[in-house]
Amino acid sequence: MGNYAEVFRRSIEDPNGFWGEAAEKISWYKKWDKVLDDSNQPFYRWFTGGELNTCYNCLDRHVEGGRGDQAAIIYDSPVTDTKQTISYRELLDQVSRFAGGLKSLGVVKGDTVVIYMPMVPQALVAMLACARLGAVHSVVFGGFAPKELAVRIDDAKPKVMISASCGIEGKKVIPYKPLLDKAIDLAKHKPANCVILKRPQVEAELTPGRDLDWDQLAASAQPAPCEIVKATDPLYILYTSGTTGMPKGIVRDNGGHAVALYWTMSHLYDVNPGDVYWAASDVGWVVGHSYIVYAPLLYGCTTIVFEGKPVGTPDPGAFWRVISEHGVKVLFTAPTAFRAIKREDSQGAYLKKYDISGFQALYLAGERTDPDTYHWASDMLNRPVIDHWWQTETAWSICGNFRGIELLPVKPGSATKPAPGFDVKILSPESQELGPDQPGVVAVKLPLPPACLPTLWHNDERFLQSYLKPFPGYYFTGDEGYHDEDGYVFIMGRVDDVINVAGHRLSTGAMEEVIATHKAVAECAVMGAADDFKGQLPVGLVVLKAGVAQDPEEIRKELVQMVREQIGAIASFKSVAIVPRLPKTRSGKILRGTMRKIADGAQFSVPSTIDDPATLGEIEEALKTIGYAKKK
Ligand code: COA
Ligand code: AMP
Repeated sequence: MGNYAEVFRRSIEDPNGFWGEAAEKISWYKKWDKVLDDSNQPFYRWFTGGELNTCYNCLDRHVEGGRGDQAAIIYDSPVTDTKQTISYRELLDQVSRFAGGLKSLGVVKGDTVVIYMPMVPQALVAMLACARLGAVHSVVFGGFAPKELAVRIDDAKPKVMISASCGIEGKKVIPYKPLLDKAIDLAKHKPANCVILKRPQVEAELTPGRDLDWDQLAASAQPAPCEIVKATDPLYILYTSGTTGMPKGIVRDNGGHAVALYWTMSHLYDVNPGDVYWAASDVGWVVGHSYIVYAPLLYGCTTIVFEGKPVGTPDPGAFWRVISEHGVKVLFTAPTAFRAIKREDSQGAYLKKYDISGFQALYLAGERTDPDTYHWASDMLNRPVIDHWWQTETAWSICGNFRGIELLPVKPGSATKPAPGFDVKILSPESQELGPDQPGVVAVKLPLPPACLPTLWHNDERFLQSYLKPFPGYYFTGDEGYHDEDGYVFIMGRVDDVINVAGHRLSTGAMEEVIATHKAVAECAVMGAADDFKGQLPVGLVVLKAGVAQDPEEIRKELVQMVREQIGAIASFKSVAIVPRLPKTRSGKILRGTMRKIADGAQFSVPSTIDDPATLGEIEEALKTIGYAKKK
């Protein structure tokens, strides 16, 4: 136990001393020349001159240190009725063999590999095998449609792709191979090879000369040793939604990432090596990268790979069963998962069936934890419930309650205080730092701490434009919020076109791009409207071209289907209203913020810049017909 304020102060005043000390916990082939390299501002790098291998730190090191027989992964898959424990020794064997297989396909340090996999242990094997070779993986969430996968293939230009014959989503079996083939057809870049994990539920047809069977490749491969990489070499790219249809390729380095993630396991999550740690997310998201794969393994914990849902696989007791059966100490998931459980088991009858006495704390992120969900979870569990705020860009939490240092009193609705290393400020549009209770844009004074994105993949300019130029000297988070007089930070939502649906980050701009291609559509806007279950849901407002004779109901159905096919079911795009025109300013800017307030039934003032105030009434009427704009 320590003193949060003191740890935070030191992290900001002496970043070199602070992170230099944290880096001693990692195994290096060569120590760094500089902890914080600020020679090329506003680009900052951590641990320049250092050399390491992330996979070595996740696996070999633990086997050499005596953890060989400890479980590294517990795979619990209610959807296939499978439970499997993989020890550190077994995982090292699988990873080094698979790395050998990739090597035999010509994958070398610096090459990119795209991974499109369901929640099976082989997804982790694939990621770690890339890390072992110094190849850069880019995992694409399995819920994205072929077009989204194709966009990422064209940006990452993988030498090899790794996928499976299918994913299993609750009761649905989703064949992945046809999606992969379609994505490769759509993409300009073609990978030389695809490695396919054949799952028993679905056959996969392999394309001769290009596709290989995972098992055959691994069986015939020579185990590959770890490649030495620079601390500043990329470990992975993870694409995340921005304001347009072109996602941002967040780059993660090896050194800073290993140091920061290792540090969080004790200071934020308060676990010990050997403990069972569970992030109920998906490897396709940043939470999965950081807290299903890298952090727990770097730290010598057992990680759970859960292929199921909080409800329906088979019931709302799934989380409690996993916690009790596998001795989970800490669970990390999205608030929406708890809302799903609450909806089906508000009295906690399923919770009472299980002994979860070893469980210590619940961590929530992906969206704000609303006070109702907070109170329900905390009353039900009688343990700390910690909301922490973070982004794909940062890899770990920007604000949180650092239980391993000092458990601060919780204020429901707040993500507590800035993480050590993050000098969080609330700014006015003119870059003035605002005082308590004044809402503004949330920014972080540079430099960002280790593990945060050093840039975007092959796109320094977009990195500068999106994050550093809006408020010079600061990293622009894209969120708005305020802090109170005790320094607690409250995140209120995005200021851009990014929305969060069931903890999944999506771009309304990307949905608009899809809708705009429909032949009957003249103009459209998609916004995120509040939803009691998923936090937000996208709602489309569509203006039809003059003289369109097609049945509006049919158009609505087609638009829903187009978003589903081109972005994915994960977009949960189901609501479309057809309107005569969109409300705009006199200069032609669509008034999305005002429309969002109307959809939510919230108070709003008519903007002074509006071209025609009557449009707002039209929008309200149209939204009412699809169940929105109900006065609160
Ligand atoms: N592959 C293919 N399709 C997928 C998918 C995947 N990996 N993941 C989700 N989908 C589909 C779902 O089947 C659903 O399809 P449908 O419209 O045909 O029903 C659609 O995408 C929307 O999925 P989702 O938003 O997850 O809704 P849901 O009703 O299936 O489940 C929750 C709701 C709350 C149970 C679920 O979102 C959840 O567990 N979320 C919390 C955990 C989490 O994922 N957090 C991420 C960041 S921490
Ligand atoms: P992602 O990159 O998918 O992790 O999404 C990041 C975005 O999700 C942030 O910019 C926030 O808008 C939102 N978010 C994540 N965690 C929280 C939280 N604890 N509180 C409020 N918003 C959050």
